[in-house]
Amino acid sequence: MTDLHVAIIMDGNGRWATAKGQPRNWGHRQGIESVRSVVRAGPGLGIRTLTLYAFSSDNWKRPPAEVSVLMKLLRTYLKTEIDELRKNGVRLKVVGRRDRLSPTLVKAIEHAERQTAQGDRLELRLAVDYSSRDLLLQAVRAAAAASDIDRRDLSALLGEAMNGDGRAPDVDLLIRTGGERRLSDFLLWECAYAELHFTPTMWPDFRGHDLQAALHDFSVRDRRFGEVAAAS
Ligand code: IPE
Ligand code: IPE
Ligand code: MG
Repeated sequence: MTDLHVAIIMDGNGRWATAKGQPRNWGHRQGIESVRSVVRAGPGLGIRTLTLYAFSSDNWKRPPAEVSVLMKLLRTYLKTEIDELRKNGVRLKVVGRRDRLSPTLVKAIEHAERQTAQGDRLELRLAVDYSSRDLLLQAVRAAAAASDIDRRDLSALLGEAMNGDGRAPDVDLLIRTGGERRLSDFLLWECAYAELHFTPTMWPDFRGHDLQAALHDFSVRDRRFGEVAAAS
């Protein structure tokens, strides 16, 4: 398996911390180590694009103190990881809205994107202030101005809407940690034929070997895309 696009809904930080008698924010902090671990493991497992759901547009509804910690953690991550990302050939992209993020965070995002622009082993896409429905709506609005739009064109418009590079690649495998079995407004268009992997493991406990196990599970699935199974 090569050139895979894997997307992860990194869920369960709060419950993980609460179960240990700690504040929810402690779970968010510990979750950073899981991000490091999967980003390190990704290229060796045939992953070319890794999209991580870091903050949904609906997450603004959380208490301001929690939102503020999440934003700070993101800024710290962007600052501290650049060297390692560069060393490992990772190109970072933040996808989602930027107009509601603080100017300092936007600067940190732009800096990290510039510094890692040469990475060619893994494209790491962090979804921040991300809503798949909002992006689809934006792409559809842009499409309305043009005529004769096909699926590829809409994908390109979607890629542009999310501040990506004009790409909205199909997801091969979608993983959600934390035990819930839903998409929570993540990559709705791109997941049309994604294989879904739900695990009860909470995000702060998830490591590269869990990603490897999910990919093994994925490798034995029969992806038919609506066709009849190949004769064996
Ligand atoms: C995922 O963990 C992180 C974000 C949504 C930012 P949660 O904070 O949703 O943790 P739970 O689901 O409440 O345990
Ligand atoms: C989805 O998790 C968003 C992220 C992981 C960033 P949520 O915890 O916000 O989703 P719901 O509320 O359980 O659907
Ligand atoms: Mg959650």
